[in-house]
Amino acid sequence: MNSLQTEIARRRTFAIISHPDAGKTTLTEKLLLYGGALQLAGSVKAKGNQRRATSDWMELEKQRGISVTSTVLQFEYSGLMLNLLDTPGHNDFSADTYRTLTAADSAVMLIDNAKGVEAQTKKLFKVCRQRGIPIFTFVNKMDHEGIGPLDLLSEVEETLGIRSVPMNWPIGQGADFQGIYDRQTHAVHLYERTARGATTAGHKEYQLEDPEVKKTVGDRLYQQLLDEIELLNVAGEEIDLNQILAGQLTPVFFGSALTNFGVQQFLDQFIKIAPAPTERLSQDAAISPDNAFSGFVFKIQANMDPAHRDRIAFLRIVSGEFEKDMEVIHSRTGKTLKLNRPQKLFARDRETVETAFAGDIIGLTNPGAFRLGDTLSLDGVLKYEEVPAFKPEAFASIQSEDVARYKHFEKGVNQLSEEGLVDLFWDHRAQTRTPILGVIGKLQFDVVQFRLLSEYGVKTTIYPVPYTEIAWVTGPEKDIMNIFFGSENKLVKDNSGNYAILSISERQLDFIKLRNESLQFSESPP
Ligand code: G4P
Repeated sequence: MNSLQTEIARRRTFAIISHPDAGKTTLTEKLLLYGGALQLAGSVKAKGNQRRATSDWMELEKQRGISVTSTVLQFEYSGLMLNLLDTPGHNDFSADTYRTLTAADSAVMLIDNAKGVEAQTKKLFKVCRQRGIPIFTFVNKMDHEGIGPLDLLSEVEETLGIRSVPMNWPIGQGADFQGIYDRQTHAVHLYERTARGATTAGHKEYQLEDPEVKKTVGDRLYQQLLDEIELLNVAGEEIDLNQILAGQLTPVFFGSALTNFGVQQFLDQFIKIAPAPTERLSQDAAISPDNAFSGFVFKIQANMDPAHRDRIAFLRIVSGEFEKDMEVIHSRTGKTLKLNRPQKLFARDRETVETAFAGDIIGLTNPGAFRLGDTLSLDGVLKYEEVPAFKPEAFASIQSEDVARYKHFEKGVNQLSEEGLVDLFWDHRAQTRTPILGVIGKLQFDVVQFRLLSEYGVKTTIYPVPYTEIAWVTGPEKDIMNIFFGSENKLVKDNSGNYAILSISERQLDFIKLRNESLQFSESPP
């Protein structure tokens, strides 16, 4: 193995997905603590006037207590370099989450023991499934009463349609939760509850047969454990690595992030099984991670740090080694770019990257140069098509309340549309001052207004529009102009100048499609 291959082999790039409140922030914090990336428990999420989540930095997130954007955390653990992608849990940010998952090689699905598989877990799981990445399940909050581990596994299998294999088994649950049994090493890990915020739980390891185990957990739980282990051995799935890596079987771990039960055991097994970066498909070939440098932009974020006021493009390196000041070719424009200010991103804190490898994520600050999905490579020919465009599902028009700040308004809406937060549509004849916004979830309207105010100093008003459907249209210009729109449809231009039709119903759109056979219609921009 050469040094590039060694670096690639030690990388694990993964995302944690969960329904809000399942404990994602808490688990993230514990993983960072084990990796030595955080010194103080509670610094990711602390109450009151203490600093809130390191990965949870936006003002709006603070106000609403939700995670709106995704960040990347990189830390070393046990000789490996872990890249953890934080994904927003809220329903209305699924496009952003989807894009983030294109950068991950595996996912950890967090389930609340007391609540089971929740709505957002299902949605996010579906996205991971589509991508075919391995999915690890961590059943959190075992210190809360749930339906029981066997029934929970059935629920996972039935609601999500994936087979599961427990890697460890809980000893008791709720107030009785005492520890976990490791099905591979046959070791029993018993914990003592520690003060909140402690780095590690008081923890002892025994062999299953050790009389101390029975003495500590009591006869009833000990017998139950033996019975359940036997049941799993006889009737459960085999631990099949190939199926896990193909995303067909999910390894399940039980624990409690808050009390540190089972977290380190999870991390130790996770890093052994989770895949290092592997090849990815470009437009015409599979690209191995040890090829020459290439990568794609999966996320753009404006004003990440109010002190910097710049736009950051997050690049997932697919292959090769990246070096500061490197010259690369931007596939979409054919231009050569010098990447002279690459950033390593640890939420708010930034550091310049000198080198990075396949699997890593770097932040690029070249203003305005990037769009979502752009590929960078040495030869300029490669193109990754990992980042899809999404069809907006809700529309509204937006206006700046202060005419004198229109320039700021325009800059703001354009930058937010580059991020993929909203789509912008303008009257097809001229850019009026009130664009129509297209979003996937209505909460995004609030996010847009909030960000325009806090980052661009522009107060705005949102007005309803009657449209609920969209189709992009291409073909001879005169035929487009000849379409009969009536009062229920409207011709607009998107931010790249493509024509699209907004309509009040699918029926109306179908009608237009039928009557205009010379034109082509599509659900995403041409
Ligand atoms: P999220 O990022 O997925 O939204 O969840 P987060 O980590 O913020 O956790 C949600 C709540 O669940 C928090 O409580 C957190 O302390 C708690 N929690 C996380 N893991 C466990 C666990 O293993 N056991 C128990 N019992 N609780 C857990 P909170 O009251 O909302 O906030 P806080 O007062 O703890 O900050």
